[in-house]
Amino acid sequence: MKLTLHVWRQKSPNHVGRMVQYEHTQVNPHMSFLEMLDVLNEELTGKGEEPIAFDHDCREGICGMCGFMINGIAHGPQPATTICQLHMRHFKHGDVLYLEPWRAKAFPVLKDLVVDRNAFDRIITSGGFVSVSTGSAPDGNAVPVPKKNADLAMDAAACIGCGACVAACPNAAAALFTGAKISHLGLLPQGQPERYQRAMNMVAQVKQELFGSCTNIGECEAVCPKEIKLEVIARMNRDYLWASWSERGDAVRADD
Ligand code: SF4
Ligand code: FES
Repeated sequence: MKLTLHVWRQKSPNHVGRMVQYEHTQVNPHMSFLEMLDVLNEELTGKGEEPIAFDHDCREGICGMCGFMINGIAHGPQPATTICQLHMRHFKHGDVLYLEPWRAKAFPVLKDLVVDRNAFDRIITSGGFVSVSTGSAPDGNAVPVPKKNADLAMDAAACIGCGACVAACPNAAAALFTGAKISHLGLLPQGQPERYQRAMNMVAQVKQELFGSCTNIGECEAVCPKEIKLEVIARMNRDYLWASWSERGDAVRADD
């Protein structure tokens, strides 16, 4: 089948980008979206042109490296699907597709469809871990975890850090990502000692990066390939508020 692709081409962060049109005539419905781009890139390389840069690693929907906009939708039109798991059978002969990188100040474009997501790494570094100061890791089954909390923590842990939530949000907020990480650890017994300080530190880091504020629009949840729910944002806000009130010696209000 044949597709018309309009692809954002940008040599480097310092160059001005533009959309470039390609007629792709060798698209097979069994290809993944990235394989379709691989074939186009081989053709471009054969003609001595620069191939289209895009991020990828596992191509199994688990690493979070891939992702860009297809016709304005983060990860494309298939719900709960990363671009590497999106197949060309979901498109038809003659389709016109516009491919653009994530658009957010906190994710500057490095090249073509590749953006710099180090801001996410800095949020994780600010608190997205459990400190183990001494001894070895405890046996996995030594600490009982209520089933409901284990399930909720597992759901939050499914976040792969792809950044689609930021790209889809009109405010370019990182609330779904940060909420998922805070919830994942805050729901488990091992995460309790640092729970409120973690929320304070991670939210403070989000503010330092160039992300916008969450206004509960919900576009993040709609595009998330791992179906992370907005509840994680509520959980993050509760932990953050509790931590702020505690810091002011006002903690009793959190129980009201
Ligand atoms: S919350 Fe969803 S969309 Fe956002 S980074 Fe995690 S997996 Fe990607
Ligand atoms: S390449 Fe790993 S999630 Fe897509």
